Amino acid sequence: MPEFKEALDFPRPCDHLTEIPTAFWAQFPFVSLDPAFDFQKVIDVLQERIGFMPLAQFRYAPEWSRDYLVNAHWALYCDNYLEGFHIPFVHPGLNQALDYDAYDTEVFEYCNLQIGIGDAATECFDLPEGHVDYGKRVAGYYFWVFPNMMFNFYPWGLSVNIVKPMSIKQCKVRFIMYVYDESKMEQSAGADLDKVEREDEFVVENVQRGIQSRFYQTGRFSPKREPCVHHFHRLLAQYL
Ligand SMILES: [Fe+2]
Repeated sequence: MPEFKEALDFPRPCDHLTEIPTAFWAQFPFVSLDPAFDFQKVIDVLQERIGFMPLAQFRYAPEWSRDYLVNAHWALYCDNYLEGFHIPFVHPGLNQALDYDAYDTEVFEYCNLQIGIGDAATECFDLPEGHVDYGKRVAGYYFWVFPNMMFNFYPWGLSVNIVKPMSIKQCKVRFIMYVYDESKMEQSAGADLDKVEREDEFVVENVQRGIQSRFYQTGRFSPKREPCVHHFHRLLAQYL
């Protein structure tokens, strides 16, 4: 700071510019004004599964990115994202590309992972030898990070979803797309994300109406299809 030579006891620690906690994964910065947990724990999980992808070549694609306004509480949107139950009923197109019985989940400390297994016609990851999923036909890695972020990796790139609460009955979902190989998009499980999103909105908005019924009760979780929803609710209970 110029012209401060005569100032006594300057600078004190509180005179410095504010430093915002930031973590980096490849070229992506993650910022939090008040971190509730160490984000490196999430990065380590992402790196183990996705580190083989050419992240440096991922290009932000505004032409594919867009926002959706959903008339539902943000946590209901996350609930729906976190379970595989609804795929055959709500997403018949997507279900054709995925092997529903091979659907798998993995729960970590502050994030979880749903693994989509593709059929013979679906574009799958070219996993390197030694990868934890080597030998599987993985079509999509669906990472959710507590409380409201999703990182969906496909053989063509990445779709980031940020679920922003707007009111108790409305949220805005931002789809931020990063593409590195557009040629793989058409045969991918992430081929028509806009259609899948609208199908999800339809059911989530109906759940918003349904939970307002006087007959609505909480329910149990399916151990096979809903460990990720259960994980979300445990973290919510812990932080609330
Ligand atoms: Fe869905």
